[in-house]
Amino acid sequence: MRVYGVLNAIITFNFLDIGEIAMKKILLVATVLTMGSVQADGKADYTNLGCAACHGATGISVAPTYPNLAGQKSAYTVKQLKDFQSGARKDATMNAMAALVAGKEQAIADFLATQ
Ligand code: HEC
Repeated sequence: MRVYGVLNAIITFNFLDIGEIAMKKILLVATVLTMGSVQADGKADYTNLGCAACHGATGISVAPTYPNLAGQKSAYTVKQLKDFQSGARKDATMNAMAALVAGKEQAIADFLATQ
């Protein structure tokens, strides 16, 4: 996450000063590095993005209308998150929340699968 923060700062700083091609190169590098750092940190992403508020710190939900996510197969969780993102699965709350996890689906799903 530290790498991610630094790169975001660099991107923001350079956004107005550089050409489009240079911008694309920086975004590509940032994406690759971010994916690397995020992979290892599904728990932090899950917590920091606010998922725990409804689904609980370890994926055991806090209310009867919120599903448990702990122990779920990671491939299933990834698919649900992508379906919420695309709108193939509709739920107002999760359509909004899933948009926040773009690129982090696998790491979060892997964390939940081990709970
Ligand atoms: C405000 C409460 C709330 C928050 C915050 C929230 N969710 Fe959900 N989540 C729900 C509800 C309600 C459902 C059931 C949606 C439905 O009925 O289709 C759900 C469904 C899901 C499912 C599908 C579960 C299944 O068994 O099919 C996944 C995966 C999921 N959420 C992951 C997340 C992640 C990851 C985050 C954080 C980015 C998050 N949720 C944040 C309320 C929430």
